[in-house]
Amino acid sequence: MNKVLILNGSPKKNGNTAKLVAWFSEEARAKGASVRIIRAASLTFKANGCSSCRACQKSARYECVIDDDVKGVLKEMQKADVIVFATPLYFYGPSAQLKLIIDRMFSLYKWDNKTNTFTSPMRGKTMGLILSAYEDIGLKIVEDSFKLIADYSEMKFKSLLVPDARESGDVEDIKGIRGRVKEFAQSLKLG
Ligand SMILES: Cc1cc2nc3c(=O)[nH]c(=O)nc-3n(C[C@H](O)[C@H](O)[C@H](O)COP(=O)(O)O)c2cc1C
Repeated sequence: MNKVLILNGSPKKNGNTAKLVAWFSEEARAKGASVRIIRAASLTFKANGCSSCRACQKSARYECVIDDDVKGVLKEMQKADVIVFATPLYFYGPSAQLKLIIDRMFSLYKWDNKTNTFTSPMRGKTMGLILSAYEDIGLKIVEDSFKLIADYSEMKFKSLLVPDARESGDVEDIKGIRGRVKEFAQSLKLG
């Protein structure tokens, strides 16, 4: 059974991202995957992002030294086969709540600057991206940046871009959206 971890970066409990994530999860579970959803906005953060202390690089453990909820999320990421980042587009980037987790992923990579190599438990996993926006400008640039992380990490990558989602709660008005989410979930081969 595939383990799917979804990181919902929206601060809105019942907004567009929550709806897209719910439809995605329904399909993933129907395909036999185990699904865990974490809302970034509900986490307790002891630091306002990665503090660049680099303590993680001095230890063999894939662990952030900041002892808060993100530490647990990073553990869950290592257990998952598929990690889905779900976020609204905020000023042509992911939400700040999601970025607080992403930067802490620094601890999941151990770099050897002498050989210019790294080891990471992210290698071989699949990364998904669910991204919605009010209009249709700027989604591609965010997709590109997530794809760069996936390529760098030697992860497979698939994305679902949802332009014209308008305001929180409006996404269900997009014709055929549920079918598109279903197809996206199926493309990740979650069973
Ligand atoms: C702070 C903020 C910044 C936003 N920036 C953009 C943007 O740059 N481009 C855009 O098309 N929509 C933007 N939006 C709209 C959201 O991306 C869009 O409504 C999204 O589907 C909301 O998802 P949610 O309901 O899960 O939060 C922004 C909304 C907020 C609150």
